[in-house]
Amino acid sequence: MSVTPIEYLLSRRSVKFVQAPAPTETELSQILQAAMSAPDHGKLQPWRFALIRGDAVARLADLAMEATKRAGRPLTAEKEASTRAWLAKVPLLIALACRIDHSNTKVPEHERLLAVGAAVTNMLNAAHMLGYGAYWSTGLGTYVDEVNEALGFDGLDYRFLGYLAVGTPIQPPAAVERPDYRKFVSEWTGAATQLS
Ligand SMILES: Cc1cc2nc3c(=O)[nH]c(=O)nc-3n(C[C@H](O)[C@H](O)[C@H](O)COP(=O)(O)O)c2cc1C
Repeated sequence: MSVTPIEYLLSRRSVKFVQAPAPTETELSQILQAAMSAPDHGKLQPWRFALIRGDAVARLADLAMEATKRAGRPLTAEKEASTRAWLAKVPLLIALACRIDHSNTKVPEHERLLAVGAAVTNMLNAAHMLGYGAYWSTGLGTYVDEVNEALGFDGLDYRFLGYLAVGTPIQPPAAVERPDYRKFVSEWTGAATQLS
């Protein structure tokens, strides 16, 4: 039985542990193109992505670990070893950033960040629909200036937002139980809200 689009959306889950093969060039184009249909106030197109593939993943791991230590951030030997072991199998990282266009003062920064968040969510959903695992991480020196600069996303003109790891799930992902949306939704009918 075929899976409907809404069933894809409802079954998406993050998959951290992935391996080769990565999405093909055509599939990667679809994943990146999916980002372009995110809502975007003012059509600022603030999303920026850098592809890190193959051997470059290990180079990024080296850079991120060394820069994290140089910045005096905590990084235990265990954390470094587990991160390197994880990345050794990851075939594709997509570095994620929001470009801050300082000439535009109409759309506040948080709306630009939300547009990039929506774009990345589209990418997560596209990867899932194509049968790949994807996982958004703000580890790997995301908050270390030297890493941001090395990737071309300096802190003056960009907000660096982490990475998507993308590949083939190592284990078939188990379904996860999601909360009931009714816990988070109320209905406003126009009457004054009673404050408790
Ligand atoms: C902006 C952002 C950054 C994240 N960074 C991390 C991270 O560094 N480490 C982590 O374990 N999970 C991180 N997560 C959470 C995972 O990507 C994932 O959403 C979480 O494991 C729950 O899985 P689910 O998406 O299937 O619900 C981040 C999520 C977002 C939206």
